[in-house]
Amino acid sequence: MRVVILFGTEMGTAESAADSIAEELREAHDVSVHDMTDFDIADLDPRHFHVVVCSTYGDGDIPTGAEPFYDALDRHRPALHGLRFAVFGLGDTVYGDTFNRGGEIIAERLVECGATQVGEHARHDASTEIRVADMAREWAATLDIPTLVSA
Ligand SMILES: Cc1cc2nc3c(=O)[nH]c(=O)nc-3n(C[C@H](O)[C@H](O)[C@H](O)COP(=O)(O)O)c2cc1C
Repeated sequence: MRVVILFGTEMGTAESAADSIAEELREAHDVSVHDMTDFDIADLDPRHFHVVVCSTYGDGDIPTGAEPFYDALDRHRPALHGLRFAVFGLGDTVYGDTFNRGGEIIAERLVECGATQVGEHARHDASTEIRVADMAREWAATLDIPTLVSA
């Protein structure tokens, strides 16, 4: 199945997590990775499985790189029924209550548009020693994405 990975980042960590997830999934799927900054919401397609990789900035806000995507969803409210997505969020517990809000904010908006979140909502914590790349790969391996048998 085609897997579309969308990352939203401020400093690049979410992009490297997206790349690690792509590496893990490429063996079994046709994978593409996109910066949310450049992704047209008209290309959200329920036939594809989506992975959202998003960090948190400010006071529990989405990073700058996710703003165009979020704003477009907010403005156009596309009907995304049937679209399945999973979320790998990034944050830091040092920020308390706002921990990992970025990925949650994007997930909430996609669900409001009719999409369905699946799998475990991953929340990387930059205050731990767990490497983002390791956690991202392990998490990606747990996703239940149908494999299409080619005709
Ligand atoms: C100025 C600043 C504000 C941040 N605010 C939050 C926050 O409110 N909540 C949170 O969980 N993490 C917060 N973080 C942590 C980042 O989300 C975390 O370091 C993440 O790995 C960065 O990913 P990125 O490089 O893709 O942007 C903040 C980091 C910085 C530098």
